[in-house]
Amino acid sequence: MVTKDSGAEGAGAVGSDSSRPWQTLSAGFEQARAREDSLDRLVEWPAQRALLGDVTGLAVLDAGCGNGAKIAQLAGEGAAASVGVDISANFVAPPPGVELIQGDLSDLASVAGLAGRPFDRILFLQSFGYAADPVQALRTARDLLTDDGFILLTRTQPIRYAVERSEQNGTSLGEEYFATESFVYRHRNWDEQVTLTKRPYTMSDLLNTFSAAGLWIETTVEPQMSAEAAERYPHKQAVMNAYLGILMFVLRPLSGQPGR
Ligand SMILES: C[S@@+](CC[C@H](N)C(=O)[O-])C[C@H]1O[C@@H](n2cnc3c(N)ncnc32)[C@H](O)[C@@H]1O
Repeated sequence: MVTKDSGAEGAGAVGSDSSRPWQTLSAGFEQARAREDSLDRLVEWPAQRALLGDVTGLAVLDAGCGNGAKIAQLAGEGAAASVGVDISANFVAPPPGVELIQGDLSDLASVAGLAGRPFDRILFLQSFGYAADPVQALRTARDLLTDDGFILLTRTQPIRYAVERSEQNGTSLGEEYFATESFVYRHRNWDEQVTLTKRPYTMSDLLNTFSAAGLWIETTVEPQMSAEAAERYPHKQAVMNAYLGILMFVLRPLSGQPGR
């Protein structure tokens, strides 16, 4: 089932990476992701899938689900309820039992049909940076979790952007890592015509966001390519060597937080 939530427009407020360009960017992103040498296929999705574990009988919500292929796979692997939300609405035809909703991950409780609905797993896979208010978005997601539920959140290593920008600007790593001004970013492999506005963040920014949202980190993973994949796709190992890849966090609610 594909539905459009009326609150979908207008994301990308101050303090977040702007999400508006995704209406245009999503097709290029999905094409790049589908390539057999994409880092999503080689590194990220296998590691995300491993962290999720057995999803049989679980209710799963994928916030910023892209075309919905990952949540559709989880439904095929036994998830009892499978919901994907994305602002771009560039969805695959959903298999039976999968709901794909156009909506804003900044406030999941206001997406049609989600208020008060419990989820065992909530995913923010390379989508969290687009939340209008990151702490508020995580608090809202936390309140939708079942008692033993968790959030799986992945974000690009902040060092990657610092390395790229220090190369571009002829500056030092530290200058770029600790910069606070938003910067314009074009993703060569997705669509060079589309610019994303990104806000720099440091590791402490990220960790403090989790604490402020009333979450604790159960597991952190920095997934790398297997030796076999590295041998097969040395150009992708070179990217990992230069820019490190992404961070993955399993986040659980701190007990005693308001609303828990
Ligand atoms: C880098 S892609 C990641 C897609 C998918 N989670 C994956 O792992 O392949 C970021 C996704 O976030 C979506 N997005 C951006 N801003 C959003 C917002 N405010 N609300 C919901 N989705 C958003 C984009 O449309 C895009 O599909």
